[in-house]
Amino acid sequence: MITVLNNKRTVSFEKIHVQQYATAAEASVQVAHEIAALIKDKQAKGQRAVLGLATGSTPKKVYKELVRLHREGDLSFHNVIAFNLDEYFPIQPIAWQSYKRFMKENLFAHIDIDQDDCHIPDGTVPQEFMKMHCEQYEKFIEDAGGIDFQLLGIGRNGHIGFNEPGSHNSSVTRLITLDISTRLDAAPEFGGTTNVPKKAITMGVSTILKAKKIVLLAWGENKAGIVQQAVEGAVTELVPASYLQAHSDVKFVIDDACALELTRNKAPWLTDTVMWHQQMIKKAVTHLALTVNKPILKLTNNDYNENRLSDLLALYGQAYDINIDVFNWLQHTITGWPGGKPNADDTNRPERATPHKKRVLLFSPHPDDDIISMGGTFQRLVDQGHEVHVAYQTSGNIAVADDEAFRFIQFVLDFNKQFNITNTESTALYEKAARFLKTKAKGEKDIDELRYVKGIIRRGEALNTCRYTGVPDEQAHFLNMPFYETGLVEKKPLGEADYEIIMNLIEKVQPHQVYAAGDLADPHGTHKVCLDAILEAMKRLKQKDYMKDCWLWLYKGAWAEWDIHQIEMAVPLSPDQVLKKRAGIFKHQSQKDGVVFQGSDSREFWQRAEERNKATADLYNQLGLAEYAAMEAFVRWQY
Ligand code: F6R
Repeated sequence: MITVLNNKRTVSFEKIHVQQYATAAEASVQVAHEIAALIKDKQAKGQRAVLGLATGSTPKKVYKELVRLHREGDLSFHNVIAFNLDEYFPIQPIAWQSYKRFMKENLFAHIDIDQDDCHIPDGTVPQEFMKMHCEQYEKFIEDAGGIDFQLLGIGRNGHIGFNEPGSHNSSVTRLITLDISTRLDAAPEFGGTTNVPKKAITMGVSTILKAKKIVLLAWGENKAGIVQQAVEGAVTELVPASYLQAHSDVKFVIDDACALELTRNKAPWLTDTVMWHQQMIKKAVTHLALTVNKPILKLTNNDYNENRLSDLLALYGQAYDINIDVFNWLQHTITGWPGGKPNADDTNRPERATPHKKRVLLFSPHPDDDIISMGGTFQRLVDQGHEVHVAYQTSGNIAVADDEAFRFIQFVLDFNKQFNITNTESTALYEKAARFLKTKAKGEKDIDELRYVKGIIRRGEALNTCRYTGVPDEQAHFLNMPFYETGLVEKKPLGEADYEIIMNLIEKVQPHQVYAAGDLADPHGTHKVCLDAILEAMKRLKQKDYMKDCWLWLYKGAWAEWDIHQIEMAVPLSPDQVLKKRAGIFKHQSQKDGVVFQGSDSREFWQRAEERNKATADLYNQLGLAEYAAMEAFVRWQY
């Protein structure tokens, strides 16, 4: 589709209208106000508003804003009828994973909607009556006059409702079998994949498409790929959200992170006029080299012209000059001296040569992110004589499996028995944890004593990695940030106590370099919260003298890597260093061999880390730079 805007040719690859907001919070407020306006408009006309609602983490902030509007007296729901998309099967409504309970806790209990007007498929209906139940559900929607406004989320496999890949566009409300990827995504809430129900009841694709207006929400980098496919790709049953392309009043509301894969962001020169600054040139040239499958120095004028980069070519005059610039920029990101190379000219190096010995503060959101995400760089910093402190931000206790904890508890109890240690506070704690474990129900929240044990297991593993790397015990700091300590996947909001812990440590270490997990776009994740706490602490301390000399480097904590054009420091690893890093990761025994939070990626953490670091090295090599075994990448962040 080509449209002319202000004499500028704007090309769109998007087949669904997309509204992009800086943050999920901002977007959610807008959507909530849109829903509120519809409800009020219907009220003014004496009509009922029929809402189709979704569950999951995505719409929570929309519901929060609707509740706020209601509390402030600005919005009544007396004329609303709600139909939820789906429900697990079988499930009891009181189970805390049930969508019935979710809706009550997040919306229905806090507003003045008539509870009889809140419809959710029933996860307790016997299977032989399911067909009837589903037909009735469709009929209720029809009798209500059809859905006026359908709110949707999207699964990472492209599902809408629980219409998994393969669902037909004529499907109606029915019982379905959940995709394995959906069950893996739900595993944390259920305390393991095996506890996730295998089936669910869902409105069909045609039920959804009948809604008068549809708004699909998606946040974060995790969803960027599937959103791109749904919006820019072909309509296919393999991506059920792509069926929405056929609807006449649909839009996707997404945040910046989730929009990353859309052509408008991925390759903006293909859709619009762009400003050619260094980052953009790097982005375009690396993209071009990868598209035409050539190293940068072999790109020709034709390659630029044929791939809509004639603007850039005109700016420089010839491909040769652009190629040399970009090649050098990339070359200058590579260094074996992450703390700066002593007595060397640092004009074109990512880090300063002085001070020669730096104080380094490495923040690790969980007890193993330091070694997994930047183990090679960590080791180099220690080996090159810097004073390296590691700060473990959270206890990571919810990621220890029960049987692993039991093994340690048993060890302590056996030891105490052997040496007749009885009636101590510690014996009581371990005995209580053991009693709890013996009767623990599936998915039940751990008691404090068990969480304590799980926390010290992970602490021991992290200390082991520090010793292995050469960091003295007193330079390993266990912060146990309070926001994390809920015992559940859902965490508390950051508070003053969290900020203070980080500020105190920075004040104590007065670092020249801070390393942090830069998962900027992970709206629900611990990594993002941990980063927010560091950024806030650094902002508050910014005026201190020692902070003027402090650089912040971000590594990617999750499995994705920075885009090549963003990388400002790339630290190569030799084959031996790769093996050394692997052994460092092995110190985290509780996170090996079938972990609690495996996610949809069945590889072990050391495998994911190695494949990611190799991929970064291969990418540099593919672009025509030297061939290394592996590389860890960083972005310098201005705070
Ligand atoms: C929920 C639903 C699902 C979710 C989707 C995204 O009622 O129908 O399609 O919207 O799985 O889940 P979250 O929001 O948890 O990422």
